[in-house]
Amino acid sequence: MIEKTELAHGLHEFFSHDHARLDNLFHKCMTTGFENSQEDLEEFARGLIQHIIWEDEYLFPVFEHVSGMSDKGPTFVMRAEHHTIQELLYELIIGVRNNTLDVTLPSTLQGLLLQHNQAEENVVYEAVQSMLTPESREELLAHLKATPPLDLDAWIEGVVEVEEPDYNSGGSPFSKYD
Ligand SMILES: [Fe+2]
Ligand SMILES: [Fe+2]
Repeated sequence: MIEKTELAHGLHEFFSHDHARLDNLFHKCMTTGFENSQEDLEEFARGLIQHIIWEDEYLFPVFEHVSGMSDKGPTFVMRAEHHTIQELLYELIIGVRNNTLDVTLPSTLQGLLLQHNQAEENVVYEAVQSMLTPESREELLAHLKATPPLDLDAWIEGVVEVEEPDYNSGGSPFSKYD
């Protein structure tokens, strides 16, 4: 009984817990001051970027494939917000490193994350949860948990090359379970 419940909610909980973990790290940086929080800020940045990659590459394609909604609907909005979140994150990191941080930027990012995360938890995670079998949820979770740590400096270097992504590309890597 307990195992079944854990399987049923595993994916939703995994991503919601990650939101809470990242929120706490960001709150800590804001309280301590970003200039004194280099380790926490880098942990936050690595975690947030990885979280977005997981959603864009593994979670959202399931929703888009099953619902048939990719160029409109909730994940279209979420993908666009991911783009903005990463732009703000990049400006934050560079601002802290160069001591040129716009003081309004952290609260702008925090506000965007708050409403973005609530929308995901209330709509997208619930939907994806119901679209996958317990076995495929378990397989996906195991895959996500095995992800090697993200290279933040490589991401920062790559950001200058990044253009507006094509939100409609790619199929669902988990379509075989649908
Ligand atoms: Fe997201
Ligand atoms: Fe999320």
